[in-house]
Amino acid sequence: MARVQVVRWTWAVLVGLCALATCEVQQQCPSRTEMSPCSCTMKKNGLDILCEFTDQQHIIDAMSVLKRKSLIIFYLKLRHNNLRKLPGFVFLGLDIRHLTIHNSSLSVVEESSLSSIGKMLTQLDVSQNSLTTVPSAAYKNLHQLLILNMNHNKISSLHSKAFQGLDTLEILTLYENKITSIDSDAFVGLEKKLKRLNLGGNGLTEIPQKALAPLDMLKKLELQENRIFQISEGDFAGLKNLDSLGLAHNKLKEVPSRVFSHLTLLNSLEIDGNNIDTIHPDAFAGLEENLQYLRLGDNNIHTIPTDALKRLHRLRHLDLRSNNISHISDDAFVGYGDSITFLNLQKNDIKSLTGMTFENLNSLETLNLQNNKLLHVPEEVMENVLDTLRVIDLMDNPLICDCDLQWYRNWIKGLKDKDDEMMQKKRTVCMYPQEHREYSLQSLPLEKMNCVIKSYDSLNNNGKSAKIEIMAPITISFLAWSIRFF
Ligand SMILES: *[C@@H]1O[C@H](CO)[C@@H](O)[C@H](O)[C@H]1NC(C)=O
Ligand SMILES: *[C@@H]1O[C@H](CO)[C@@H](O)[C@H](O)[C@H]1NC(C)=O
Repeated sequence: MARVQVVRWTWAVLVGLCALATCEVQQQCPSRTEMSPCSCTMKKNGLDILCEFTDQQHIIDAMSVLKRKSLIIFYLKLRHNNLRKLPGFVFLGLDIRHLTIHNSSLSVVEESSLSSIGKMLTQLDVSQNSLTTVPSAAYKNLHQLLILNMNHNKISSLHSKAFQGLDTLEILTLYENKITSIDSDAFVGLEKKLKRLNLGGNGLTEIPQKALAPLDMLKKLELQENRIFQISEGDFAGLKNLDSLGLAHNKLKEVPSRVFSHLTLLNSLEIDGNNIDTIHPDAFAGLEENLQYLRLGDNNIHTIPTDALKRLHRLRHLDLRSNNISHISDDAFVGYGDSITFLNLQKNDIKSLTGMTFENLNSLETLNLQNNKLLHVPEEVMENVLDTLRVIDLMDNPLICDCDLQWYRNWIKGLKDKDDEMMQKKRTVCMYPQEHREYSLQSLPLEKMNCVIKSYDSLNNNGKSAKIEIMAPITISFLAWSIRFF
C-alpha cells in the first residue's frame, strides 16, 4: 500500500516537473524544409512556431510533422492566414501552451479542434477574425486556460453559458466586437477566477447587470466605447472586489445617486468622454475609502461637483479636462482636496482664480490649467501650492504680463529637481500690451514694468514665499545679472 503511494507520488512529481518543462524531452525544432512555410525556433520553455500568410492545408501538414516528435510547443502562432475553419483534431497529440490564431478569417472552430490540447493550453488568442458567436463547445474542455482573447471579431451576442468549462479563466477580453446583448447566464462558470473582463468597443446600451453580478472576484471591468446611456443604483451589485471600472466614451448624461454604492473597493473610475452634465451629490457614495483616480474629462460639466466629491477623502488624481467649467468657487476643494496630487482643468473656460481656490490642495504636485481664459494668475492664488507643485501648465491662456506673475520665474528656478526638463521647456508666454509683444513667463521685463523684484530664494528657504524684497541698487545689478542668464 505504502509502496503504491510512493510510486504515485513520484509519478505526480515527475509529471509536475514535466509540466514546468524541466523534465526535458529532447527539445529540437524539425528541419526547416519539413516545417516550411512555418518556422520554428527554440525557446527556453519549448518551441516557438510561426505560420504566416499560408492556408489550412500547409498548417495541417506542419502540425503532422510536429506530431511525430514529442515536443512542448510553448507558442504556436498562426497569423494572417486563410483559415476559415479550424478543423477537428488538428492539434491532436500536440502539447501547446499558448495558441494564437490572429487575422486569419477564422469563423468556424470545430468542437474537437481544441479539446485535445485542453490539458495544457493556458492562453488562447483568436483576435481579429470573423467569429460571430462564442464557440462554446470547442472551449468547454480548456480546463487550464488563464487568458482568452477574442478581440476584434464579429460576435453580436453572448449566449447563456457561453464560457462554461473555463473554470480557471482569469482574463477574458472581447474588445471591439458587435455585442448588443448578453444573456444573464453568459458568464456562468467564471465566478471563481475571473479577474479582468473587457467588453469595450461594443454596442451595449445598458449595464449587463444580471450577467455580471455573480463575478465576485472581478477586479477590472472595461465597458468603455459602448452606447450605454444610463446607469442606476444596483447596476454594479455583486462586484464587491472591483478595483477599476471603465465607462469612458459612452452616452451617459447623468451620474445618479448611489450608483456605485456596491463598489466599496473601487480605486479607479473612468467616466470621461460621455455627455455628463449632472452629478448627484450622492453619486459617489460607497467610494469613500478607496477611490483614488477619477476621470471626468470630456463631459459637459459646468462646475466642480464639490458636493459629490467631498466624501472622497482618498482622492489623489482628479481629471476634469475639456468640460465647460467657467468659474471655480472658493470652496471647490473643501473637504477632499488635501489628498489630491494631480488636478487637470485644461480646456475649460476658466476666466479667473481667487486666493482661496487652491487653499486646500496641500499635496498638489501637478496642476494643469492649459487652454483656459485666464488673464491673470497672481501669486496669492498660487502661494498655497507652490511648495509642493512640480508641474504647472499655464500654456494657451491669454495671460497679460504683470508683476504678479513673478512667482512663476522664481518657482521654476527653485524647483528641486533640475532635471525636471519637461517643466523647464514649457514655453509659457504672456502678452505685454505696451509693446504689443509676448514674453516668456521666465523672462518678464520686470524693470520696464516697474516691478518690485522678489528674490529667487524667498520661495525655497521658507517653503512658502517670504516676500523678501530687494531694494534699489541691488535690484539693478540683480536685474542685469538675471537678464544675462535667463
Ligand atoms: C491580415 O492578413 C492579410 C493576409 O491574409 C494581410 O494582407 C493583412 O495585411 C492582414 N491585416 C492586418 C491588419 O494585419
Ligand atoms: C457652456 O456653458 C455656457 C454657459 O456657462 C453655455 O452658454 C454654453 O452653451 C456651454 N457650452 C456647451 C458646449 O455646452
